[in-house]
Amino acid sequence: MRLTKFVLAVLCFAAAATAAAQEERTGGPYVPTPQSVVDEMLKLAGVREEDFVVDLGSGDGRIVLTAARRFQARGMGVDIDGELVDQSNAAAQREGLDHLVQFDQRDVLQTDIGEASVLTLYLLPNMMASLRSKILAELKPGSRVVSHDFEFGEWQPDRKVTIDAPDKYGPGGTWTSNVMLWVVPARVEGVWRIALSGNSDKLYTVTLKQKFQKLEGEARQGGRRVEIRDMHLEGNRIRFVLQPGAPRAAPREFRGVINGDQIGGEVTIAQATANWTAKRVVTSARKR
Ligand SMILES: C[S@@+](CC[C@H](N)C(=O)[O-])C[C@H]1O[C@@H](n2cnc3c(N)ncnc32)[C@H](O)[C@@H]1O
Repeated sequence: MRLTKFVLAVLCFAAAATAAAQEERTGGPYVPTPQSVVDEMLKLAGVREEDFVVDLGSGDGRIVLTAARRFQARGMGVDIDGELVDQSNAAAQREGLDHLVQFDQRDVLQTDIGEASVLTLYLLPNMMASLRSKILAELKPGSRVVSHDFEFGEWQPDRKVTIDAPDKYGPGGTWTSNVMLWVVPARVEGVWRIALSGNSDKLYTVTLKQKFQKLEGEARQGGRRVEIRDMHLEGNRIRFVLQPGAPRAAPREFRGVINGDQIGGEVTIAQATANWTAKRVVTSARKR
């Protein structure tokens, strides 16, 4: 009788523990990414030796372990499931990769992701939505984010590929996986004063509006409106063209690197190249 009570208590405890673990899996259940899709994710992110790869909800650790094995990249995985974390650390040790990677039991929303140059995800849409502003706030511009199957809503991917995944029935009802890449954009919104080196009369004021990596702008020179077009932002690199209104005026093709409230780069005008700098004079306080 006493033994039956004990067995019952153990079973109840085990059931409660399992339910609690499921409840904490707010990013979705454990479904491993097929190895062919892992390879495609790392390829799309362009993982190299100098990268630090973080997988949020790392399961058996396969994404971080593959990056370490194939590219000697350092990395970290976090998962709410302690057993999967132990399994991942054991695999790292077995393969002699534990000097490069580490796995911790932690909620993805409580994870410090600032060191990641590559962030990988295979989490349900609600969790992707919760993580979006954290990613934009904590990752450095130019960091690459790669997701398996699920997106960030309004923040459109920079690239998307669909590949056959014969061992996985995808959410679209096909035996395929979508792999998406986002490059974390620098914050460039605001008003910028642009100067061309050695040419004090070539001063422009450019007002930029930003929605993730998409830009809209307005430009002026000496109070007169100048056409601005072909704006492109990738990480902390910006390109745009200013087209002065004078007849037959050559377009000014700007390329630059954003560093906080400064931009520096080169501008090509009819095959001649000059340096330019810009200073942000008004910053937008908009949250993204
Ligand atoms: C679909 S699996 C992906 C596993 C691995 N990233 C891969 O692609 O093979 C999602 C993983 O996220 C974990 N997870 C779910 N919610 C989580 C949370 N809030 N914090 C940490 N891990 C979570 C689950 O335990 C599971 O291992």
